[in-house]
Amino acid sequence: MALAHDLTTLALEIAREAGELARRRRTEGVAIAATKSALADIVTEADREVEDLIRARLSAARPDDGFLGEETGAERGVSGITWVVDPIDGTVNYAYGIPAYAVSIAAVTGEPAPATWEAIAGAVFNPAMGELFHATIGEGAWLDDQRIAVNAEPWPAGALLATGFGYDPSTHAGDLARVARVMPLARDLRRIGAASLDLAYVAAGRLDGYFERGLQPWDHAAGALIVREAGGITGGSEGGRPGNAMTIAAPPALYETLLAAAIGDTH
Ligand code: IPD
Repeated sequence: MALAHDLTTLALEIAREAGELARRRRTEGVAIAATKSALADIVTEADREVEDLIRARLSAARPDDGFLGEETGAERGVSGITWVVDPIDGTVNYAYGIPAYAVSIAAVTGEPAPATWEAIAGAVFNPAMGELFHATIGEGAWLDDQRIAVNAEPWPAGALLATGFGYDPSTHAGDLARVARVMPLARDLRRIGAASLDLAYVAAGRLDGYFERGLQPWDHAAGALIVREAGGITGGSEGGRPGNAMTIAAPPALYETLLAAAIGDTH
């Protein structure tokens, strides 16, 4: 799809520029600007500045498109395309100086809600590592200029899985119960701290599978497209799509088993 390809090109260009800004600000020191849904849920000055930059670049290049961003909210467009943006996914890593954070930019068509949208272009850029993961619908998934694919191997020693935990302490008991159900499938478990990178790593075969409850649309919009274009399956609770209730990403051979363990009997 020529349009989707052009949108990816734009997303890559802006993700690189935004990521460089985030990295530069990180070297200058990070100021926590506010807390959001919980005390542990922080926003830095850089999150806001980076989202402003992305929003300005997108509206200059494509003024008719809509926007849905973690820090500045939603604005409807008239073109049928909405940009779904997390300026710094992995904000807590960013604040602590752990080099696992990313700019995530996706273009989706349809209603700008994960239950119905179709993601057609996506970029996830980790400026600390200089790695740019990207995908265009129907054109495969890439890490920089290398094609990537999910792991197709069987997992005799168990799968290398990743998950994340929400910021709200009241959800932690459920998260830990889920981990207990999933661990029999795992050779080990990673908690990297940036959902977009967890998804990109599944796409690149650096992880075998990923599951998490409580994600926001901007956490998974780009990464889930990259997983699908790398040959993986993404989904949520009860055969649904990735979303707040559950996000799962895995190669086809692992997906159903991981889904069943992650949602359990009580979801
Ligand atoms: C968070 C990260 C984290 C995940 C949280 C997300 P943010 O995004 O992706 O890994 O566990 O659910 O909210 O707040 O750093 O953009």
